[in-house]
Amino acid sequence: ARKMSSERFQVFVTRNDMPQGGIDLLKKECDVKMSTHPSTMPREELLKAIAGVNGIFCSLTDRIDKEVLDAAGPGLKVIGTISVGHDHIDLAECKKRGVQIGYTPDVLTDATAELTMALLLSTSRRLPEAQHEARTGGWKSWAPTWMTGPGLAGSTVGIVGFGRIGQAVARRVKAFNTKKILYFNRSERPEAQETGAIKVTFDELLTQSDFIICCAALVPETKAMFNKAAFEKMKNTAIFINTSRGGTVDQDALIEALQNNTIRAAGLDVTTPEPLPLDNPLLKLPNCVVLPHIGSAAIETRNTMSELTANNILAALKGKPMPAEL
Ligand code: DGY
Repeated sequence: ARKMSSERFQVFVTRNDMPQGGIDLLKKECDVKMSTHPSTMPREELLKAIAGVNGIFCSLTDRIDKEVLDAAGPGLKVIGTISVGHDHIDLAECKKRGVQIGYTPDVLTDATAELTMALLLSTSRRLPEAQHEARTGGWKSWAPTWMTGPGLAGSTVGIVGFGRIGQAVARRVKAFNTKKILYFNRSERPEAQETGAIKVTFDELLTQSDFIICCAALVPETKAMFNKAAFEKMKNTAIFINTSRGGTVDQDALIEALQNNTIRAAGLDVTTPEPLPLDNPLLKLPNCVVLPHIGSAAIETRNTMSELTANNILAALKGKPMPAEL
């Protein structure tokens, strides 16, 4: 028999603009309450709204910590985040309380790798600058050295963090006739055979690469790993790309490196903080391309992420194996 409405699981969704796929799935089986904000919920409002819920459908803009878990109370069984990154969640605290965590690996790998390539090419071939010239009259005539930048063909590409996304980037980069792909990762990855990527030390990667791409999760070991010393080890022609988390970079050191031409350019999909304040020097530097954290923003991908988040929550609530549990 169908449960009475009052016995249905209570799930709270932290924003009102989550892709519909997951919301529809949840509504079939749960009582769903939702934020009224199409953006991050004010903290006080969130803390009130989650009292007594069994599940929370959140995004990377919600900090899930002790305070949130306390506010939800002992009925909370599961947190589902619509992201593969989970640096916004206090895992230890969740574990302690037996709160399960669902996330969205795999389904966004292609979209994020595609965006990484887009950012790599936009930065190396200076697309935003070039478009600006075309729109504002800077385009006087074809000119042999105007708007030039380094090509990928024949180059050495270093990928930091060789998990799902790093490997997907390596496959794409290889198709551009690069000379060598290097990677730095905690452990050796057998998948590297497919692209011929070579495991090196962080220092070797920094000194040898023409393009350095950060695909590493933000954890204590990767926090600010791209610091002043790291930028100084890079070639002064190097291009740095980050599509993981802003926290892997010492941003002041990056700004300095770009201003002093310690490196050639940077392409960032992630920054500290997000959004990046409009007066941040990164937004003024001609050798920096900044995107507003859109790595996984392919239409289908976002809906699939929403459905996976809902299926994670539903499985945990019903005591079944979650499709993607942390
Ligand atoms: C993630 O999933 O962690 C991305 O940053 C957003 O898709």
